[in-house]
Amino acid sequence: MQIRQLERVGIGVFPTPFEPMPRLQTELGGPKLFVKRDDMTGVALGGNKVRQLDYILVEARKKRADYVITTCGVQSNWSRQTVALATKMGMKAMLVLRTAQFKSKPSVYDGNILLDHIMGAKVRVIKMRINEDPTPILEEEADKLRRKGHRPLVLGPAASVSPMATAAYAYGFIEMAGQAKAMGVTLDAVFVAAGAGPTQAGLILGAKVLGMKTRIFGINVGAYSAERLNEVILRSSEGAAKMLGTDARVKKSDIIVNGDYAGEDYGITTEESNEALRLVARTEALIIDPVYTSKTMAGMIGMIRKGEFRNDQNVCFLHTGGVPALFAYKDQFQPKRG
Ligand SMILES: Cc1ncc(COP(=O)(O)O)c(C=O)c1O
Repeated sequence: MQIRQLERVGIGVFPTPFEPMPRLQTELGGPKLFVKRDDMTGVALGGNKVRQLDYILVEARKKRADYVITTCGVQSNWSRQTVALATKMGMKAMLVLRTAQFKSKPSVYDGNILLDHIMGAKVRVIKMRINEDPTPILEEEADKLRRKGHRPLVLGPAASVSPMATAAYAYGFIEMAGQAKAMGVTLDAVFVAAGAGPTQAGLILGAKVLGMKTRIFGINVGAYSAERLNEVILRSSEGAAKMLGTDARVKKSDIIVNGDYAGEDYGITTEESNEALRLVARTEALIIDPVYTSKTMAGMIGMIRKGEFRNDQNVCFLHTGGVPALFAYKDQFQPKRG
């Protein structure tokens, strides 16, 4: 099925690697395992948002913006990647970061917020949960910049769940299915972190476009309810399908969101997620993050251990990045002393 090729900024480095994980596979003794390395999208330590922003920021170029203002949590990967692309496009970045899972504003910068600062972003931290709406504060900051003669583009909370973000991952699925096919592999399942949903939505849509039966398992990382994830996935995939000019449509029955690995809350690690993080580091030298990919990996490992897949099936883990946040969680990974 043909789909429209949307315009890209062209800063991300694609295709990202697609690799087998033989040592993890031997360790778990289940299906054949692969990883799609979207932690290697090529800019400022990579991640899934580079793939999405490479399309989303075309708008900034069209509007001749000189500033991008966006928002998320203090350890936000979205924000770091926005700063990175804005910088490479010759713009400045302003971030309104919410304390989210942390009780207070950071006294020492670490992980993503440190990188934001090093890349020269203006950073304002506010005490607010990840699922509250900071739009009035973004508008206030945009007005301040306009008064100084700047042309800011505001990427509010809706930007990261836009149809464009989903369209980017429809292409992402097509890219990984093509790489798998070149290795003689048909993907039976893909595991992906379900944060707000558009990445999962794009994978489901991409599989539909190719007419493939690949099941896309979204592991809820605890930011939003399953209802809200379903709603975002349906809405953003509908918009993306229209943008891409395809008749393929994602239905409610195509959506799998597994909430068993979310733990207490978004950003709070679990015993299984920390175990998963260590296991893939020790078998595959694959470094994953404590907030998104380790809960997703815990889900994949958990389902394999429960015998949900046959040994002749091919299962792929989408590494969506986020590794800088690991350093903000260093206390949980220290060697035992004494
Ligand atoms: C590392 C990482 N993985 C996964 C996700 C989830 O993506 P989505 O919001 O599309 O569900 C995010 C989103 O912030 C992320 O930073």
